[in-house]
Amino acid sequence: MVGKGQSIHGQWGSRWAFILAATGSAVGLGNIWRFPYVVGDHGGAAFVLVYLACIAVIGVPVMMAEILIGRRGRQSPINTMRTLPAEAGATPAWQLLGWMGVLAGFIVLSFYSVVAGWALAYVPFTASGMFTGADTATVEAAFTGLLDSPGQLLLWHTVFIALTGYVVSRGVRSGIEKAVRVLMPLLFLLLLLMVGYGMGAGAFAEAVAFLFTPDFSALTGESVLIAMGQAFFTLSLGLGAIMAYGSYLSSRSSIPRNAGIIAGADTVIALIAGLAIFPIVFAAGLDPQEGAGLVFVALSYGFGQMPMGMLFGTLFFVLLSFAAWTSAISITEPATAYLVESRGWRRPRATFAVAGTAWFVGIGSILSFNYWSDMQILGMNFMGVMEYLSTSVMLPLGGMLMALFAGWVLPRSATVQELGFKNQGWYMAWLFLVRYVVPVAILIVFARALGLF
Ligand code: TRP
Repeated sequence: MVGKGQSIHGQWGSRWAFILAATGSAVGLGNIWRFPYVVGDHGGAAFVLVYLACIAVIGVPVMMAEILIGRRGRQSPINTMRTLPAEAGATPAWQLLGWMGVLAGFIVLSFYSVVAGWALAYVPFTASGMFTGADTATVEAAFTGLLDSPGQLLLWHTVFIALTGYVVSRGVRSGIEKAVRVLMPLLFLLLLLMVGYGMGAGAFAEAVAFLFTPDFSALTGESVLIAMGQAFFTLSLGLGAIMAYGSYLSSRSSIPRNAGIIAGADTVIALIAGLAIFPIVFAAGLDPQEGAGLVFVALSYGFGQMPMGMLFGTLFFVLLSFAAWTSAISITEPATAYLVESRGWRRPRATFAVAGTAWFVGIGSILSFNYWSDMQILGMNFMGVMEYLSTSVMLPLGGMLMALFAGWVLPRSATVQELGFKNQGWYMAWLFLVRYVVPVAILIVFARALGLF
């Protein structure tokens, strides 16, 4: 039943359903696959500090803005960005923000599903014992072998996107909420198990030094942009996923408190992933600049050396697949909700169209590791371009526009009511951040990365 002031897609059963869904969106390949590899590529601790600053100063206020815009609009991001500007007497051009988000969603989902496919592929790899006692060359060869095989990559990409589409096609309450209620506690349990297991192994002190002793001379304008993009990516901000989830949130639930819980959980999990992976990287003499394969190679090697590594390694890749699944679901939701609202399509058809399009674009990322591996654009392969364009350009741009919209366009009465701060000072701090600090900071990072100063 759809009540007054609710989205036509329904509403979360409770505040915790929203927190689980949004944390499920945030915690994913971004924490466990992407965070360690970009930290490795960009020199370690100084990068980590910039990333943490971006989470606190930019990420959390933008997340509050994104949730509140969604809850205020109660529609898919495109339609919310039509309705709210109209109500506020602002230009209809704001709807472009919704469209850019949907476009970014297709791009992110397309390569996300390919990488999630690697995680799926590693479940049978590890379970078959192929890494048990293996040396680094064997473990690296397994990863290269997977990337060399378009057939295998396509199979796992297809399985993953079908699983994602299946959940989204069943709707907010009986699809997404039901899935996260089962998957998130399991994910948490598996993670605790893995941390307990991993503490004893590897070059822990060296990893801590790499992650927490900064050398700021290693930091370039480009790496600051990557750190900021990673903050947006890991918190699922800037494309409307969190906006869509916010549109299903009860008006009584506290947005600031929820945003704090989601961002806190996400940050802790990224740091745990780093502390689990780098001890193995250093102990095994692997190169931290291994790139996109870092987690797969390092962890498979690590598990292969440990007692019961076959069991725990398999569990780990199951965990990674779950984490990716609950994230991909959220990336699929905005465009799906839009097609249901504006085209009157039934959800299964809408989901099929969205997931099918992302599946098709994903084939480009698959080919970039084999048939198209010689094709370079600005020094990146096809997947690299997709990743860069969405994560480092479109997400921060989207987040900046959301901050500007919430800070300058929405009436104050609306943002005061949605955020519900008891303390006026906290509200003013948030307003100052989204009005000035977030937009200026993002512009400066863009300008520096372009070499403008
Ligand atoms: N945050 C997820 C991760 O860290 C990925 C993700 C889900 C995402 N939804 C998103 C990224 C929306 C950008 C925008 O793996």
